[in-house]
Amino acid sequence: MTNEVRKTGRLIRAPENFVDAGLANEITTKGLNEERRGFLRKSFLAASAAMASGTAMAQAAAGFEGDPNILNLPEHSKTLGQAVATNAYGVPSKYETNLLRRESPGLTRVSAASVSFAPLQGLFGIITPSGLHFERHHQGWHDIDPSKHRFMINGLVKNPKVYTMDDLMRLPSVSRMHFIECGANTAMEWGNVAVPSVQYSHGMLSCSEFTGVPLSVLLEDCGYDKKNGKFILAEGADGSSMTRTIDISRAMDDVIVAWGMNGEMLRPENGYPLRLVVPGVQGVSWVKWLRRIEVGDMPYATKDEAIHYVDAMPDGMLRQYTSIQECKSVITTPSAGQMLLDKGFYNITGLAWSGRGKIKRVDVSVDGGRNWRTARMENPVLPKCLTRFNIDWTWDGSPTVIQSRAIDDTGYVQPKINELRAVRGTRSIYHNNAIQSWKIAESGEVSNVQVY
Ligand code: MTE
Repeated sequence: MTNEVRKTGRLIRAPENFVDAGLANEITTKGLNEERRGFLRKSFLAASAAMASGTAMAQAAAGFEGDPNILNLPEHSKTLGQAVATNAYGVPSKYETNLLRRESPGLTRVSAASVSFAPLQGLFGIITPSGLHFERHHQGWHDIDPSKHRFMINGLVKNPKVYTMDDLMRLPSVSRMHFIECGANTAMEWGNVAVPSVQYSHGMLSCSEFTGVPLSVLLEDCGYDKKNGKFILAEGADGSSMTRTIDISRAMDDVIVAWGMNGEMLRPENGYPLRLVVPGVQGVSWVKWLRRIEVGDMPYATKDEAIHYVDAMPDGMLRQYTSIQECKSVITTPSAGQMLLDKGFYNITGLAWSGRGKIKRVDVSVDGGRNWRTARMENPVLPKCLTRFNIDWTWDGSPTVIQSRAIDDTGYVQPKINELRAVRGTRSIYHNNAIQSWKIAESGEVSNVQVY
């Protein structure tokens, strides 16, 4: 048998083992589950068998015939590449310019206040690239000079203090991965408005590694009043008067006064040079451009706690201080706005998170909630952090609905939208953690639907 194939007059020689190199590596990769391994092994055996026969060889050659990209050496294989200095601060490939934070016109822009959503459908793993981290600000963002920025702790403390950035960055720091989700994420689904993509339905969600000094270190440094100091008020330096109450036990637990995000300083839109990180709690409490913390003996009931971020309950009452982001998940691919090209194998992938701890399990249904299979959770699985899940699926080409359902380590199960509405009514804006349904049409088109 010859390994030579003819292409527009040029003779190329295929390496003896070119079929198995990549696949053999994948097959031996640890951590692939049995089903996935079976799928790959079958593909590998089929490919090897094909190459062993002369007819199959001719078919492979015909395939090559139609693909000049593999046969002709491209320019970049024959020329000198660019110098690193032309890209001193790395930016994505010019072929990836479609992956952007996006505003939803009409929905979110009120004067300078805006939100731009993270493109969850195009992201891998759990870390959101800093340039794609969602951003929500009530009065625009600023690029504040860190040499002039000051941070004060006052109120019920023995020694009120003003810190410079240099003072803070000398203190013992920690780096932790956490998700941040706006309390208004997935808000439109309350009203049964099927927004067109996961970017707009769930994109007020991101996850980063944050670096800073634990707030407990600073409160101890200022000698906070352990008897009467029951709450803190966090205040931002922007024009929105963003102020939030946090109870002292949480403040002393895992809250961070952070300057770092994903290995570098915070981006201006995300609070440069200093922001509060309040793991598990809705985004509004993660005060950006942080300039002051006051220790007090009662909740402050500020405007963003009295008229915003409150839950309108069915009996007409407003529920305040429901800060924790309950267990939630969403399939990011396939998701609304995407298109399945053909029936056959797909990797269903998504994100799960809980403001109360770790994700214990994620189930996926590919038949509108009748049957559920347990998905693979990818490491790391960390508390108050996004968890990536994957599950194999072979689409038979018929219309269906896919869903994910997360369970956290407190045993809490992500509810269906009608279960949530039974308790919360229909007038809410905030804190929707319902199961999300994506409908797949026979054409392969994926859209947003609600399944009760
Ligand atoms: N902090 C200040 N000072 N001003 C703001 O407008 N917006 C809050 C919070 N912190 C805000 C703020 C809201 S509503 C959210 S959801 C998060 O910041 C968003 O953080 P991000 O922009 O880094 O994603």
